[in-house]
Amino acid sequence: MDKFLNVALPKGRLGEKVYDMFEKAGYPCPSIKENNRKLIFENQKLGIRFFWVKPSDVAIYVERGAADVGVAGKDILVEYKPDVYELADLQMGKCSMCVAGKKDFVDNRNKTLRVATKFVNIAKEYYSSQGRDIDIIALNGSIELAPILNLSDVIVDIVETGTTLKENDLEVVERFLPISARLIANKSSFKFKTEIIEDVRKKLTDLL
Ligand code: PRP
Repeated sequence: MDKFLNVALPKGRLGEKVYDMFEKAGYPCPSIKENNRKLIFENQKLGIRFFWVKPSDVAIYVERGAADVGVAGKDILVEYKPDVYELADLQMGKCSMCVAGKKDFVDNRNKTLRVATKFVNIAKEYYSSQGRDIDIIALNGSIELAPILNLSDVIVDIVETGTTLKENDLEVVERFLPISARLIANKSSFKFKTEIIEDVRKKLTDLL
C-alpha cells in the first residue's frame, strides 16, 4: 500500500479553504499555491499528497481508494450514498437543499409536479416522503432556468446566498436539508492508515 496519505480536495473556492485548514492543521504543501495547472502536489517530508478533483467526484475517488481521505459536500453524500466513512463536519461550504419556484407558484396536488434538479435521488426521496407524485427532469446546471421557461414547476437545488434565485425572480418554497463540507475516508485506508487519518481528523476538528 502507498505510504503517502492521498487527499482529494474539491477544486474551487471551497477546496482552497479546505487546503488552508490542512495547512493550519500542520499538513502544509506549499507548492499547491503556485499558480499552475498541475493537479497533484506532494509534501514528501510529511508523506502527504493532495490532488484537485471536481467537487462532485471526490466521493468516487475516496470510495474506490484512489484517495484515502477527501472533502465532499453532504449533498453528494446523500445523493450518491458512497460507501465511505464520514469522519467530521468541517463546518464550511454551508448551504441548504431547497425546493424553489416562481414567486406566484402554488402547488396543485391534483397534478404531477414537474421537478428539475441535479439531485435526482434527493428530490425523489423528499417527494416520496411527502407522498407526492413527481416527474423528474434531470439537468446538469443552470437549474434556475427550468421554471422560468416552464420546463418545470419547481427546482430542487442548493441555495447558498440566495442571489441566484433572487436574480432570476425565484424564491425558496422549502429548505429541507442543511449542507456542509465533510471529511470522508476510504474504509480500507482507515483500517491501514488509522494513525495518520485520525491525526488529520483531530487536528482539523481542533481548528473548528
Ligand atoms: C449552485 C446552485 C445554484 C447556486 C446557488 O450552482 O446550483 O445555482 O450555486 O448559490 P447562491 O444561492 O449563492 O446564488 P453552481 O455554482 O454549483 O453551478 P451550476 O449551475 O453549474 O450547478
